[in-house]
Amino acid sequence: MIADPKEILVDAEKNNYAIAGINATTLEGIQAVLEAAEEMGTPIMLSHAQVHEPYAPINVFGPLMVHFAEKAKVPVIIHLDHGTNYNYVMKAVRNGFTSIMYDCAHLPYEENVSEVKRFTEMAHQLGIIVEAEVGQMPSNIEGIGGCTEFGVGIENMEQYYTDPKMAEEFCIRALVDMLAISFGTVHGFFVERPILDIERVKQIHSLIPTALVMHGTTGVDEEQIKAAINAGIRKFNYFTGIGTSANESIEAQIKNATAPVYYHEIAANAKEIMKQRAKHIIEVYQNK
Ligand code: 13P
Repeated sequence: MIADPKEILVDAEKNNYAIAGINATTLEGIQAVLEAAEEMGTPIMLSHAQVHEPYAPINVFGPLMVHFAEKAKVPVIIHLDHGTNYNYVMKAVRNGFTSIMYDCAHLPYEENVSEVKRFTEMAHQLGIIVEAEVGQMPSNIEGIGGCTEFGVGIENMEQYYTDPKMAEEFCIRALVDMLAISFGTVHGFFVERPILDIERVKQIHSLIPTALVMHGTTGVDEEQIKAAINAGIRKFNYFTGIGTSANESIEAQIKNATAPVYYHEIAANAKEIMKQRAKHIIEVYQNK
């Protein structure tokens, strides 16, 4: 069923857990995430990122996500991840997304505020919740963040961290429902073990009621994830871990085959592995 996204944010805050925002880039990815949520009996955020447009065009994937979300036995938030231009976020609106990240963090601060505010005022009229970002999320994924080359460590990570006062001011002015904050994670695989600035999360959480979001969850240990939830993180974005979870198994499947391997057999194998990974990550976010 399609969720009331606001209701879920309120529930997460009340019960001190975080919603799993998991990106799906294939049909099997969508099925894996939703079946995992059904088996765990939890609400879920099914996400599509603008950067995946070449593989999963929103005009094809949007209707597909809505179709599967409507049929799901648990509440589903249909989310656009890192929409970076107005035309694209409007495509998400037209395709039935119920939660949209309008990421203008690459713009000067004042433009980030005014651009996001303009969108939020319109989105709220339609019952859509909005996520924005203050501070920058460096990345090891091409096309997102763009602060580093793949496999190269990030110098002076703190320069990207979210300033708590700026986050507070931003949320008051731009009226967003969720705020992505930077406190030590990167998109993609980590080159070094991350040490999260949990105190910063606590401080931002004490200043604003806005649901705080952690991007770049792949590679962060469970202890730090739980500490981040207890400090106020209410939604995690997770992709690289699930998107690569089936690699070894697929390699073995092809290598060990004694007859031609069909793509649908690979896809079925991948779906099962992605589902198990999604179930595990949902369990961690439940923070029990
Ligand atoms: P990872 O790929 O590092 O899990 O991050 C996903 C993300 O933050 C998407 O916005």
